[in-house]
Amino acid sequence: LSSLPTEMGWVASTFYKYQGFWHPCRHLQGILSCQKHFEAQDKDTLLVTTPKSGTTWLKALLFTLINRTHFHHSAHNHPLQSNSPHVLVPFLEVKLFLEHENPDLSSFKSPRLFSTHMPYVSLPKSIHDSKCKLVYLCRDPKDTLVSLWFFTNKLRLQEMGSRSLEEAFELFCGGVSMYGPFWDHVLGYWEESLKNPDKVFFLKYEDMKDEPVVHLRKLAEFLGCPFSSEEEKDEVLEGIVELCSFDNLSNLKVNKVGKLPSGEDYSVFFRKGEVGDWKNHLTSEMVERLDRICKEKFEGSGLTF
Ligand code: A3P
Repeated sequence: LSSLPTEMGWVASTFYKYQGFWHPCRHLQGILSCQKHFEAQDKDTLLVTTPKSGTTWLKALLFTLINRTHFHHSAHNHPLQSNSPHVLVPFLEVKLFLEHENPDLSSFKSPRLFSTHMPYVSLPKSIHDSKCKLVYLCRDPKDTLVSLWFFTNKLRLQEMGSRSLEEAFELFCGGVSMYGPFWDHVLGYWEESLKNPDKVFFLKYEDMKDEPVVHLRKLAEFLGCPFSSEEEKDEVLEGIVELCSFDNLSNLKVNKVGKLPSGEDYSVFFRKGEVGDWKNHLTSEMVERLDRICKEKFEGSGLTF
């Protein structure tokens, strides 16, 4: 690994299975440090996602929602205009606890907002012990897989060549994908959201796309910062949805030409931003097989995609 540029290293690294889930070596280091050192606070919000389920989008939405009293929703002076959502809402294990084993988080003012891809079983103990809230986002596995395939190929080093969709599909179906098995990841949070709805808010990309204002309102209530009737009148909700829309975010200069401090282009987080792009890529055999696996895995859980 040490001979590879570190920011790309995870793509090329061996995956390790830890607590039932597959992780690139580097991310696993971050998870272990985070489990050991992260101290959740009661007012924290943690955005948890399966990779490629719309993390970037929900980072933007939650950041704007939680901080809305501090900013005017003018197109010009909002922090999203000049900062990537990944800078405003950093990943715990992929950023903060990867750069330092025990990072100093004192510059993050309460209410803090972090994100993670960690499976439920791997969350640091302090998250359970505190009153912090979890917002979980997932996406139709067919779109997740296609998005993941494009993303990974973009980040693979030139000399590695790209991975075929067939190969990525086989691995995904066998549960081998970043933070996979996908179904176990989703079920972990789904079951917890049923048991403990005040702690875990379960959201699907497709539902957010379909009715963003409805779900934004529910999210605000869940997080204890409901919209006032004044805000509803002022169409603040529509303003937030518009600010965080794919068209708006993907066309901002910072997201078009900006790079993470580690060198990755922010633009890799924006591709199509649509529901159902799998129809353009997966064969009918692939669709049948993935649907069958999902049916088996989600049987009896009440969860469908
Ligand atoms: P596609 O590859 O299907 O286009 P993540 O942020 O978890 O890495 O997920 C990336 C996926 O979310 C990509 O999906 C990306 O295009 C999409 N996305 C990014 N910003 C979005 C937005 N504002 N609204 C909807 N989808 C968005």
